[in-house]
Amino acid sequence: MPGDKSISHRALMFGAMALGETVVSGLLEGEDVLATGRAMTQLGAKIEKRGEHWHINGVGVGGFLEPDAPLDFGNAGTGVRLAMGLVGTYDFVSRYTGDASLCSRPMGRVLNPLKSIGVEVLEHNDGKLPIALRGPSMPVPITYHTPVASAQVKSCIMLAGLIIPGITTVIEDVFTRDHTEKMLTGFGANVQVKTAANGQRTIEVEGLPDLRGQEVQVPGDPSSAAFPMVAALIVPGSDVTIENVLMNPTRTGLLITLQEMGADIEVLNERVSGGEDIADIRVKYSDLKGVTVPAERAASMIDEYPVLAVAAAFAEGATHMPGIDELRVKESDRLSAVADGLKANGVECIEGEDFLTVEGGSGKVAGGGRVKTHLDHRIAMCFLVMGMASQKDVSIDDSNMIATSFPTFTPEMTRLGAEFGRPNN
Ligand code: S3P
Repeated sequence: MPGDKSISHRALMFGAMALGETVVSGLLEGEDVLATGRAMTQLGAKIEKRGEHWHINGVGVGGFLEPDAPLDFGNAGTGVRLAMGLVGTYDFVSRYTGDASLCSRPMGRVLNPLKSIGVEVLEHNDGKLPIALRGPSMPVPITYHTPVASAQVKSCIMLAGLIIPGITTVIEDVFTRDHTEKMLTGFGANVQVKTAANGQRTIEVEGLPDLRGQEVQVPGDPSSAAFPMVAALIVPGSDVTIENVLMNPTRTGLLITLQEMGADIEVLNERVSGGEDIADIRVKYSDLKGVTVPAERAASMIDEYPVLAVAAAFAEGATHMPGIDELRVKESDRLSAVADGLKANGVECIEGEDFLTVEGGSGKVAGGGRVKTHLDHRIAMCFLVMGMASQKDVSIDDSNMIATSFPTFTPEMTRLGAEFGRPNN
């Protein structure tokens, strides 16, 4: 599996900020992560690939240089939202932009807490990119109770806290992916986490830490592993082992859900590497049954709903996915993109404001549709996976965005038996 996207972005950012050399192995060389690397270079870090490893020479906390051009994050929400925390609090002007998809996504969720730190929003387009920020000469630590279940928002505030004297606090009601907490601690920051009986987490970050370069091993991305996993479940006769997959409990919601649907999935060689749980996953073709996915599980599988919807289309009975309104503000409005793609391929579904219900075809999906991907890599990949088992081929309008997160998708899936071609019409 290619490296985990969330961890890869953070490895470059934290390496750029820490003093001395960070050496990263297994970095995802997708467009999103490479854009973050370019932005870190504009801020003064030195980044180069030697052999299999990426070497980053960081500037030290507080040491970023004023960028002389906008930081362009392409398609990457994680890149830009974390960078606005990392850099936006500096007492200079920083500008942020991205592609058409990223420029249509809401940034108010990070601008609001940054404003209470004293960051000035000099330019924005109705709360969206392009955005220009200027940090205050005296940033103040805040306590921010985040209204959205979002690791990007949490991480933005935590990173801002690194150059603020004192303790910056983020409170989250839902446990979202904790890579920032774990990795910052690994780089030498003082991060304290308390979890209340109701699951609410309070994260405290001490400002102005002495961060030092580290060795980072990036595990395989479970959000990418989701595609061969579901392909194996729906293509009769499959038996596929996916190696080196991140098993952090904040990322395993899809695996649990598929097992509840009756999927034959074995978790093998469980081990710990670089402070993260990893394992190999063996998946065999299975008769799936529809389930209701608990809404509380959404954060741990937020990027996997599109491909779950594909598995659900082949299951027996309905699969109900409540509490997924956050899908509307991803790289595309994924709730409606998935529903439209399913309908175009003969799958019945109901799209609610914050839920999706998919009527399974007990192993049979007509296919034959052309899917609009809306510059969204996961919409592209999930419907190509559907085409591996549908009665007629499935086509998509654009495959370019796949390179943002899974540049080896086509060769890897071809190795498993997929056939790709250009549609005739
Ligand atoms: C990510 C957090 C999630 C996820 C995204 C990666 C991260 O976004 O969808 O792909 O690395 O922090 P939200 O924080 O908006 O839920």
